[in-house]
Amino acid sequence: MRSVKMLNLHAQYLRIKDEIDAAMAAVLERTDFIGGEDVKEFEKELAAYHEASQTITCANGTDAIQIALMAMDLPPGSEVITPGFSYAAIAEMCHLVGLKPIYCDVDPHTYLMDVEDLEERITPKTRVLAPVHLFGQVAPMENIMALAKKHNFYVLEDNAQAIGAEYIFSDGRKAKSGSMGDVSTTSFFPSKNLGCYGDGGAIVTQNDKLAKRCKMIANHGQSVKYHHEIIGMNSRLDTLQAAILRVKLRKLDGFAAERQAAAAHYDYELGSIPQLKIPARAENSTHVFHQYCMVLETPEMRSGLQEYLKNHGVPSMIYYPLPLYKQTAYKQDITLPVTEYLCDRILALPMGTDMESEQLSYITSTIKQYFSK
Ligand SMILES: Cc1ncc(COP(=O)(O)O)c(C=O)c1O
Repeated sequence: MRSVKMLNLHAQYLRIKDEIDAAMAAVLERTDFIGGEDVKEFEKELAAYHEASQTITCANGTDAIQIALMAMDLPPGSEVITPGFSYAAIAEMCHLVGLKPIYCDVDPHTYLMDVEDLEERITPKTRVLAPVHLFGQVAPMENIMALAKKHNFYVLEDNAQAIGAEYIFSDGRKAKSGSMGDVSTTSFFPSKNLGCYGDGGAIVTQNDKLAKRCKMIANHGQSVKYHHEIIGMNSRLDTLQAAILRVKLRKLDGFAAERQAAAAHYDYELGSIPQLKIPARAENSTHVFHQYCMVLETPEMRSGLQEYLKNHGVPSMIYYPLPLYKQTAYKQDITLPVTEYLCDRILALPMGTDMESEQLSYITSTIKQYFSK
């Protein structure tokens, strides 16, 4: 039996070790650990990557959402429409800053925000649309931006899982995920497509007013030292992490290509198994495969396959087992049928850079064995 990892960060580190070690050594020599040269340069490089005017780095992707929401300065109880099938960060930060998350359903094939369902949830209190570019694909931004423009809403893109993906508008224009809304947030958690070696996050925006407020909020609400103009927090990206991220940003598109190659292998080998659905590609987006999530015919089949894989040394993960509105902390009495269907049936396979074809073949042949039992 082989032993496979969900993500092999060590193999990636070994491949880029010389550059990473040199970048970290330079920080150690300069000892500019907080707000150092690499933080400033990384912010410029990340903004340039997104063709955006401003990037504000911070301590993690959850803080990035909190800072962005605080920067909007909305009346308490304002509503933020976001998918019910997602990671918890937006829901959690809405509650923390006194806003109300309103959950909409997602598309059963792409797992991305269902814009028709979103539209039905607009109320006089709606102020923000918060799509999540889940698993590495960009939500239908053209329709989302059109709705936001019509109603004068803010758009916050949660880009923690799709950095590097591209959205293609109906006129053929292309834009990087995280560059279309008023503001986007991302996470540099180690397993992310652009991951550092600890925690990190960033906000990307073209809106100078929001950028100025985000910068102040991340720094105790001050723009002049010891003069606190608004309520803020302390949220910083370490210089060591910025140095690592500068190296990895230059490789991000290559990393995405490796993930796409692993996904193509899975697609080819698993695409004809009738009991599972391989992940659909959104029409207007590239896919950078933060996760490769397939959907099993029944919940029982998912638990059976997961157990079988585990017994054969193959890890798998359920993203996400519960709709946000069924979480104890954020409970709401609603039902979103697609969200619930996916929570019961979705399963993620190992994904990342540095996946060997032998490893991929072992994973897919183990899955095939399970279905031929
Ligand atoms: C969609 C999404 N948003 C936000 C976050 C939060 O990022 P962090 O863990 O850096 O706070 C994550 C992290 O898993 C995420 O997947």
